Amino acid sequence: MDERRQMHLGAFLYPTGYHVAGWRHPDAQADAGVNFEHYGELARRAEAAHFDLLFLADSLAIRGDDIDALERTAIRYVAQFEPLTLISALSARTQRIGLVASASTTYNEPYHIARKFASLDHISGGRAGWNLITSQNEYEALNFGAHYHPSHAQRYARAGEFVDVVQGLWDSWEDDAFPRDKRSGLFFDRGKLHPLRHEGEHFQVRGPLNIPRSPQGAPVLVQAGASDAGRSLAARSAELVFGAQNDMHEAKAFYRDLRARLTTCGRADKSLKIMVGVFPYAGRSYAEAEDKYEALQQLVHPVSGLSLLSAQLGGCDLSKVDPDGPLPEISETQAGQSRRQLLIDMARREDLTVRQLYQRIAGGRGHWQLIGTPESICDELEQWFIESAADGFNVMPPYSPAGFYDFIELIVPELVRRGLFRDGYRGNTLRSHLGLAVPSNRFARG
Ligand SMILES: Cc1cc2nc3c(=O)[nH]c(=O)nc-3n(C[C@H](O)[C@H](O)[C@H](O)COP(=O)(O)O)c2cc1C
Repeated sequence: MDERRQMHLGAFLYPTGYHVAGWRHPDAQADAGVNFEHYGELARRAEAAHFDLLFLADSLAIRGDDIDALERTAIRYVAQFEPLTLISALSARTQRIGLVASASTTYNEPYHIARKFASLDHISGGRAGWNLITSQNEYEALNFGAHYHPSHAQRYARAGEFVDVVQGLWDSWEDDAFPRDKRSGLFFDRGKLHPLRHEGEHFQVRGPLNIPRSPQGAPVLVQAGASDAGRSLAARSAELVFGAQNDMHEAKAFYRDLRARLTTCGRADKSLKIMVGVFPYAGRSYAEAEDKYEALQQLVHPVSGLSLLSAQLGGCDLSKVDPDGPLPEISETQAGQSRRQLLIDMARREDLTVRQLYQRIAGGRGHWQLIGTPESICDELEQWFIESAADGFNVMPPYSPAGFYDFIELIVPELVRRGLFRDGYRGNTLRSHLGLAVPSNRFARG
């Protein structure tokens, strides 16, 4: 078997695609957010192409209250399925592909999360992953009786303890704790039961979890924050990190930094994988790819563009800004920090006007955009992979489903031909696809 290092691929299933105007594309499934057959077919095609995982993002509120912009968008979580419900249903439609869903540590309790993802791991035969998010979106607070959205530091402090509790709960039972011996009448072995008895600053959780240890030992822990606090949390607990860099040098620096933090935490290099988002327009020729890009850009409404930029910059007011002038000073907010800084740096580095900046992000919203042929796109992916800027890529199609099928039909075969991506699954669990070890139970003897 070829033991050469190969890249990992994730399918980021944004309902109508990641582009702000994706839903308006003639080939887009405009009702994708609540169309289960749409997701079922995407999942089937991703699995047939041997992707490592499907990924579903989440928000516990519609993002924003600018109704002029909202009424023109499908990307602000206006009308779509709750991801854990959806991905559980998709687990029944698939056999091998990994299933990762986002869930917030700010507006959930750890017992809920531990239980639901352990259930998904059982139901799917070991394919579950939890993307730990801290809710950067302050509108979520309004749906949970909170008068204010906790600060960035408060959210990460809670997230740190939250993840300890979840992982502790996942170790509630040893692997062979349930003899279910009909003859003797013994259902479980009390010696293999370990209630957590957690007493912390944010949580008091007795445990145990009322579901056995799951097929992967624990669902794969995924994290996507890139601030200092986000990286620290990832280094001590995440097994997969989703990055959002759009420049290879930044991606390499991010990759090196996370690896260094991992070592500081006493963790092995291979216990963490990093996948960077890629926003591709693939064509059989450059002209075809450019045409696909231009067709979507023409559909961006200016109201949507400015509103999107404001949201990405932490909710700052851009209403009085000259669109054809440079980006003014943007003050810090309690929203996500890394994305805001990425955009400010891009505007300064490339001397972009506000209009140019919003046009730039309207598509991929600052993610790494690639427009080209199978050869040119694979060249870029290969370079990032070989130069250790990423262990793999999260594919974020601009429009869906056609944009995703372009990637599957044009890019994946070329990656396989180059030996950069698998031509078949070797295992059945998400851990096996990612090359991650099954964690041992902290309480088990020997
Ligand atoms: C690929 C990717 C997926 C993400 N998914 C979600 C999500 O589903 N919901 C969410 O609220 N935030 C999501 N985020 C945002 C991050 O979880 C995080 O809140 C953000 O990067 C700000 O954190 P930071 O200040 O540590 O960078 C995602 C980020 C990336 C790069």
